[in-house]
Amino acid sequence: AAYDPGEHESFMHKEILEQPASAGRVLRGRLNGRFATGHLGGLNMDARELRAIRRVKILGCGSAYYVGEMGATLIEELARIPADAEAASEFRYRNPIIEPDTLYVAVSQSGETIDTLLAVQEVRRKGGYVIGLVNVVGSAIAREADGGIYLHAGPEVAVASTKALTNMFLGFAMLALQLGRVRDLSIADGRRLIAGLESLPGKIEEVLATEERLVAVAERLAAAESLFFVGRVRGFPVAREGAQKFKEISYRHAEAYQTSELKHGPLALISPDVPTIAIVPLDELVERNVAALHEIAARGGPLVVVTHEEVDLQGLEAERIVVPRAERELDPILLTIPLQLLAYHAAKQLGHDIDKPRNLAKSVTVE
Ligand code: AGP
Repeated sequence: AAYDPGEHESFMHKEILEQPASAGRVLRGRLNGRFATGHLGGLNMDARELRAIRRVKILGCGSAYYVGEMGATLIEELARIPADAEAASEFRYRNPIIEPDTLYVAVSQSGETIDTLLAVQEVRRKGGYVIGLVNVVGSAIAREADGGIYLHAGPEVAVASTKALTNMFLGFAMLALQLGRVRDLSIADGRRLIAGLESLPGKIEEVLATEERLVAVAERLAAAESLFFVGRVRGFPVAREGAQKFKEISYRHAEAYQTSELKHGPLALISPDVPTIAIVPLDELVERNVAALHEIAARGGPLVVVTHEEVDLQGLEAERIVVPRAERELDPILLTIPLQLLAYHAAKQLGHDIDKPRNLAKSVTVE
């Protein structure tokens, strides 16, 4: 049954391993091969309305906010519409300016997070149009929104979100594709992305197959009191999400930074006791990223690098975790999966109650 971890050791582990199947579900029926675009009927918007959007504002809390940052990058890259994500818990308190040609997107697994729900109500009260990226069908945010994309991740029980976050990313990718294809994204690029999206469930499977190796790395990380997670541009929200997952269930101090910002302060904390988990995809920043990691190594900081096969670490002494490449815009989600397993196995090593971490609730329904 859905609410039984069955032969799995925990719900979180079950949910991590379910991702190839659940990712397949969110894509099903929503990609239009002929016109190389997304087919998201639930948005309740026609091409002309989609074309009129001048800005996208994404609202969510915690990990949903970090995936929102990944979503904003996807939208800017594919549709060239200015987009950003903001913590829904803060949004309402700064008397936000609501514009009629902005698309507001509320992201939530539960659909019941009070901060996100109140943000949706604030937008709608001021006449804004809101769509939901929500997992739980019929939840408060889904009911309140003007349209949306259900995530079809299936029930998620563990407090630390995994498969729902992956489907949020895929939801954003399809939205970005559809927004791009009513603008300047070419049919060739649309096809390239559709092929990339369709390949993701299989590639997630490949990452999951490396679990045994990740167990050994996680056990070493579990010994550290404090860790850094670093990345740049597409890799930075990945680092934020990695740190979030790690602190939620291992109770270790984990902090995310832009790799480029290390030298502006946090480098002072680097020592043999503080490992850094670095996100280094093969992208336009790879050489700068690798150079920054050498700065960490020179100060004795242990390194775990989540990267692609082709990346040359220039002799860096580091634990290397390789993930398959997708299309560059889609890489963030494949870079995120090993971080779930690192957090999971560190928490397991420490003997924590992984599905129900202390002080946290699955959905936060009071302000
Ligand atoms: C994720 O691992 C966290 N438990 C938490 O940050 C969560 O993403 C956040 O509370 C938002 O929840 P929601 O998606 O149900 O709105």
